[in-house]
Amino acid sequence: MTTDGAPPSNGQPALSDAHFAQFDRDGYVIIEPFLADDHRLRLISEVDAWAAGGIEDAYAPRDDRRSAHERVQLALHEHGLLVSHPPLMAIVETLLGRGFAYHHLHTTRFDAGSNGVQWHHDYMQFPQSNRSHGMVHCFFYLSGLNGTIGDLLLRPGSHRLVVDSAAIGSFGTEDLPGSIAIDRLAPGSLVVVHSALWHARRKKPGGEGRPRYFVDASYCQAGIRWPSDYGDWRSKLRVAQDRGLDRDGRFSHLFDEAHFFDVAEARQRLARENVGSWLERVAPPPVGPV
Ligand SMILES: [Fe+2]
Repeated sequence: MTTDGAPPSNGQPALSDAHFAQFDRDGYVIIEPFLADDHRLRLISEVDAWAAGGIEDAYAPRDDRRSAHERVQLALHEHGLLVSHPPLMAIVETLLGRGFAYHHLHTTRFDAGSNGVQWHHDYMQFPQSNRSHGMVHCFFYLSGLNGTIGDLLLRPGSHRLVVDSAAIGSFGTEDLPGSIAIDRLAPGSLVVVHSALWHARRKKPGGEGRPRYFVDASYCQAGIRWPSDYGDWRSKLRVAQDRGLDRDGRFSHLFDEAHFFDVAEARQRLARENVGSWLERVAPPPVGPV
């Protein structure tokens, strides 16, 4: 696969019927491999350059440095192009339909000894109340998985459960009933998960001198307004547009601000007003005789 809109490197259609059925049932699908060697190696060299800039974990507590770093990720040549990579767009459109939004892109290099991440999901909704519209996270394992550094844990089917992500963090990285651990993936593999799917990264020994290269890109179904990315999300969308990542307008829907409302401002309002039952607010009982 190339970054100039050429057909998928593996020569396969965007998603088979079996893939689609698995995503619907289990909340994830694995495409192994997805990125051609030359493509993944170019991305890896960008991750190395980015990691050398000082920040090692995109999931570290947010501060000004991280915010600036996120903009840099999108501005990286190959990372930016990955956001609207045509074969990826074909897969996401199969899952979310036309007109979907780009939410964010994170890139990380996990060196030997990196900590795991507890069970969580990444479905952007406050408070968690339904799964009416789809959101996906596309996990790119540029150097694959080989049983060292960290395994990917998934709980198939959990994307259908409406639960606050923080509620499952107390499970740490333990096995859950029905959960699976993925510890082998070919370099360049893609795992697309419904963002509400419970997942975790379990720390594993080994991997010295063989870092784990990881990129995730996230997209939201059109039709509702979504909580924006954190930080200066408007400027990140502008960076994407200025860089021409919409590929001459073919994917202009990705970077339309109209998909979003400001998450930080809205969450502050929610924190002030989140008392009692929301049911009564959205469906108040009739007043007086009926
Ligand atoms: Fe996650």
